[in-house]
Amino acid sequence: MGCCFSARIKAESPPRNGSTSNYVSKDEDTLSGLSSKVSLTSVPQTPRTEGEILQSENLNSFSFNELKTATRNFRPDSVVGEGGFGSVFKGWIDEQTLTAAKPGTGTVIAAKRLNQEGFQGHNEWLAEINYLGQLHHPNLVKLFGYCLEDDHRLLVYEFLPKGSLDNHLFRRASYFQPLSWGIRMKVALDAAKGLAFLHSDEAKVIYRDFKTSNILLDSNYNAKLSDFGLAKDGPVGDKSHVSTRVMGTYGYAAPEYMATGHLTKKSDVYSFGVVLLEIMSGKRAMDKNRPSGEHNLVEWAKPYLTSKRRIFQVMDARIEGQYSLRAAMKVANLAIQCLSVEPRFRPTMEEVVRTLEQLQDSNDSGSVGSSRDQTVRKSHHSSSSRSRSSSGARPHRRSMNNSLNGEGTSNPKPSASPLVT
Ligand SMILES: Nc1ncnc2c1ncn2[C@@H]1O[C@H](COP(=O)(O)OP(=O)(O)OP(=O)(O)O)[C@@H](O)[C@H]1O
Ligand SMILES: [Mg+2]
Repeated sequence: MGCCFSARIKAESPPRNGSTSNYVSKDEDTLSGLSSKVSLTSVPQTPRTEGEILQSENLNSFSFNELKTATRNFRPDSVVGEGGFGSVFKGWIDEQTLTAAKPGTGTVIAAKRLNQEGFQGHNEWLAEINYLGQLHHPNLVKLFGYCLEDDHRLLVYEFLPKGSLDNHLFRRASYFQPLSWGIRMKVALDAAKGLAFLHSDEAKVIYRDFKTSNILLDSNYNAKLSDFGLAKDGPVGDKSHVSTRVMGTYGYAAPEYMATGHLTKKSDVYSFGVVLLEIMSGKRAMDKNRPSGEHNLVEWAKPYLTSKRRIFQVMDARIEGQYSLRAAMKVANLAIQCLSVEPRFRPTMEEVVRTLEQLQDSNDSGSVGSSRDQTVRKSHHSSSSRSRSSSGARPHRRSMNNSLNGEGTSNPKPSASPLVT
C-alpha cells in the first residue's frame, strides 16, 4: 500500500459498494457469541448481550481496588507497555482468591487499563472479553478476567515476560538481543497456528489486527496472539465476507479490505504476509524514517523476494549466516503468496502452518544449509538495512482523522468513507 501512515485506523467507515444483499450486515455494536457454535456445522451465531458476555464462566470479575493494589497503585514503573487502548501494568494476584498478592508471589498479570472515553473503547473492551472468554488455544493469550466499576474498564491477562514481538524485532536497545532466525521461524509458526485456529470451523473468527505488537512472547518464546478488540465473527452460510467499517493498522490491512470494507479470512492472511516480511527483515511495515522509496516495506521488498541474488537485501543483517538461501527463498515465497493482491491467490492459514512446519522439519529453519547455500555475505545487504533507524513510528491505536491516500485506499474515494475520530 502506498500510504505512509503508521497509525492505527481508528475510525470505521461503512462498507462502500452499496449492495448489501450478499453480505452479512453486522452491527458493529452487536457482538456475536461463539458459545452457540457447538459443532462444526454452521449453527446460527446469536448475538450475546453485554451481561451474557460478562458472565462467561471462565472469566473473573476483579474489583478496581484489588487491581490497584496488585499493580501497586498503577505505579508508573509497573507500566510494561502502552497502546491506543491504554497502559498495560504488571501486577501480582492470588489466582484462588483473586486478591492482590505481594510482588514476586502468586500469579503475574498484565492489567490493561482503558484510558479513552466513549463507545469505541468500551466496544473493544467488550469484544476482547467476548472472544477471549470463549476461545482457548496455546497460541492465544489467556484472559483471566476484567474489571467494570464506575468508569473503570480493565482487562486482566496472563503476563507474557518477553513482551511483544515488535520490541524484539525493532528496538535497538542493547538489552534486546536480535532474535535468531530459528526463533523467528518458531514465532511465525506459533502465530500462524493461532490464526489458523481462529479461522477454523470451531472458531470462525477473523482477527483483523494481526501485527507484531499483538504477538506476545512467553519466557520460552512461545508466541500468543493478544488484542481481540477488533475481531469479528466470520461470514456464515454461503456468504463470502462480512461487511464492516474499515479498522486495523495501516501497513497491515489488506488492500481490498481498505478499499471495500469486505472482511474475509484472507484479510488476516495478508497481514500475516506483512508480519512475515517484518520478521525476515527486522524492518517495520511502515517507517517514514527510511529512505524515500522504502517507507512501505511490502512495496519496497516485493521485487527482491523472488531473486536468489537480491533476497539478502531484504534479510535482517543481524541474523546473517543463520539461515540458508533455500530457507530464505521458501519464506520469501510464502510471504509473496500471502501478499497476493488477489485474495483468492493467498493460501489459507492452515496451508501457511504446513509450509512453516515443513521448513522446520527440513532442518532448514535454524541453521546454515549446504555449502551451495552459504551465500550470505555482508555485501549482499543494502546499506540501509544496517544503518536503519531505530525510531520508526510504532503503529498503534492512535486515532487519526487524516484522509486516506495510497494504493490500498484509493478506491473508493476518501470522501465516501471519511475517517473520523
Ligand atoms: N499480557 C501481556 N504481557 C506482557 N506484556 C504485555 C501484555 N499485553 C500487552 N503487553 C505489552 O504492552 C504493550 C501495549 O499493548 P497494547 O495491546 O495495549 O498496544 P499495542 O498492541 O502496542 O497497540 P494497539 O493499541 O494498536 O493494539 C505491548 O506491546 C506489550 O509490550
Ligand atoms: Mg495490541
